[in-house]
Amino acid sequence: MELNEVLHKRHMVRSFSGRVPDEWTVRRVLTASRHAPSAGNTRGWRAVCMVGPEQTARFWAATTTAGWRESSRRWPGLSRAPVVVALFCSPAAYLERYSEADKAGSGLGLEGGLEAWPVPYWFLDAGFAALTMLLAAADAGLGACFLGNFRGEDELKRTLEVPQDGWRYVGAVLFGEAGGSDPPSTSLRRTTDVMTHNIYWNRWKTNSCS
Ligand SMILES: Cc1cc2nc3c(=O)[nH]c(=O)nc-3n(C[C@H](O)[C@H](O)[C@H](O)COP(=O)(O)O)c2cc1C
Repeated sequence: MELNEVLHKRHMVRSFSGRVPDEWTVRRVLTASRHAPSAGNTRGWRAVCMVGPEQTARFWAATTTAGWRESSRRWPGLSRAPVVVALFCSPAAYLERYSEADKAGSGLGLEGGLEAWPVPYWFLDAGFAALTMLLAAADAGLGACFLGNFRGEDELKRTLEVPQDGWRYVGAVLFGEAGGSDPPSTSLRRTTDVMTHNIYWNRWKTNSCS
């Protein structure tokens, strides 16, 4: 697929058939993340990949509650995602990298601490990595979505044996063959209005069209 086609085709898929993609395809989506840009080439993120229902059940047990699973209209479709990739980032890795000689002038190293960072690049980098996986999944003809970190960070870290020294859970990329009922997200009601008014030329402009 052409990049432009992938960009236009990609959208969040929240219901999966459950079929596990072949290993080569899974690896192709995962390794796309290695081409993501990274601040200072720090690459202070890690991905823990779970394939198949036995493994992905561990993710769901840590990040959801029985109450949510009973009430969510999304749960049946999401629970069939054959691949779940949990993303973690290390703020400390960025402090260390930006303390190195070629970055020390930035003032973003260990001395300034996390508060010195106007934008937390550790989350940004992990977001770029997630996006490359979403695009690679679309390119492979698969559905994919990103789920934010809304609960269960500590439990997930324990389950996946993530080191306790400062790694943060960012969110998860789910991918696989689309299938089942996938009602459109309520968030999409916003799309038309926002999308036609968010690119300005030369200066900020309210109600401008791109
Ligand atoms: C940082 C971030 C967090 C998100 N978290 C969730 C989430 O927890 N659950 C979900 O269903 N969608 C989540 N989304 C998906 C958005 O709702 C979706 O990208 C948006 O509605 C636009 O739809 P599209 O990606 O299909 O174009 C998230 C997206 C981003 C970028």
